[in-house]
Amino acid sequence: MDPYRFERSQALFERAKRSIPGGIYGHQSPMLLTTDSYPYFFSRGAGSHVWDVDGNEYIDYMCSYGPIVVGHLNPRVEEAARLRAAEGNCFNGPTALWVELAERLVALTPFADWAVFGKNGSDVCTWAIEVARHATGRPKIAVAEGAYHGTHAWATPVANGVTPEDRANVVKFRYNDLKSLTRAVEENHGAMAGVILTPFRHDAGHDSEMPAEGFLRGVRELCDRNAMVFVLDDVRAGFRLHMGGSGELFGVRPDLSCYCKAIANGYPLSACVGRDSLRQAASEVFFTGSYFTSAVPMAAALATLDELESTGGIERMRELGETLRDGMLAQALRCGFEVTWSGPPAMPYMSFKADQGRHARIKLFCGEAAKRGVYFHPRHNWFLSAAHTEEDIRRTLEVTDEAFAAVRKQFGA
Ligand SMILES: Cc1ncc(COP(=O)(O)O)c(C=O)c1O
Repeated sequence: MDPYRFERSQALFERAKRSIPGGIYGHQSPMLLTTDSYPYFFSRGAGSHVWDVDGNEYIDYMCSYGPIVVGHLNPRVEEAARLRAAEGNCFNGPTALWVELAERLVALTPFADWAVFGKNGSDVCTWAIEVARHATGRPKIAVAEGAYHGTHAWATPVANGVTPEDRANVVKFRYNDLKSLTRAVEENHGAMAGVILTPFRHDAGHDSEMPAEGFLRGVRELCDRNAMVFVLDDVRAGFRLHMGGSGELFGVRPDLSCYCKAIANGYPLSACVGRDSLRQAASEVFFTGSYFTSAVPMAAALATLDELESTGGIERMRELGETLRDGMLAQALRCGFEVTWSGPPAMPYMSFKADQGRHARIKLFCGEAAKRGVYFHPRHNWFLSAAHTEEDIRRTLEVTDEAFAAVRKQFGA
């Protein structure tokens, strides 16, 4: 098979740089990928596959960085969206779907009594910490070092354009280190409104870390003892690990939980669900946006949740992720590589120990896989979808065998 070429992608990128600062910015910036091994622009997707503008086809293990959970162009989701769009999308107020979806999320999430909707993960994470502040009358929020909670000034990982005042009420602690969180709470006695936390540690550029035994329970107890609000940022993991929210997988129930990404299979929507005790505060913290009530993403969300539930999508992603993991770990062993496979099966990440966090081997590995039609990311966790098939995994393993061989050729075992 001829290695892929990216002429149209590269030409479009050159054009993009003239009219768009940076060409493509943020997490989808090609600067984070392996130069000359990845496409920059896509043209279509179907199920677990995507095609770039040069016509190259990929088995997609990034799923648009999370949103695609039941496959590109999932028939049930597309039909629901099409039917809704035929009646209109954006009105002076919401449609009945606004209520139906809130009721559905409340029914799915054991601790939740209400839901609100936004468009991005950043919207709901910022709003959730504002609710925590308003409810407690305290200013500070505990945030794990290196965690990503969005682009807003208090959270963005790139502080250009951000003032010290924007961050003045953010107190850092280390994920999985209950002592560091306890210390942060003690040092800010009476000023801490809450803690925001992802269900497992999935910081870009690092191996993922599952919550240590007792860590999330300890966070819950600390919040209860200090009347703080526990915000779960389930933006990335939500509806990939458990239908009731990822906290259920780890035996913890937060006070507020933020969803986005997988909730509507690629249609723009985010949500925050919460406990009754925060209902009053939630109704008093201003929250709105031009498209917050749009109906089509809500129809898509209801259909996505139906599809996940009726097809056992969560279980399927876990099983396929396990097959992929077992196959790739066996290949690494045969090639003499020490690799770290981290994260839950549906959201795995692999690194080479010899890279020592510098990503040289994994960049080559992912680049070699991309040029052969398997789309992984060298620095960000990967995503399975419920539309991946056993045949996808079989074909992927043929490609990863060749990618491991390419790494061995360049770096030795
Ligand atoms: C854990 C987490 N929180 C928040 C966000 C921000 O979401 P958005 O990019 O939709 O604003 C992301 C996005 O990747 C995320 O992974």
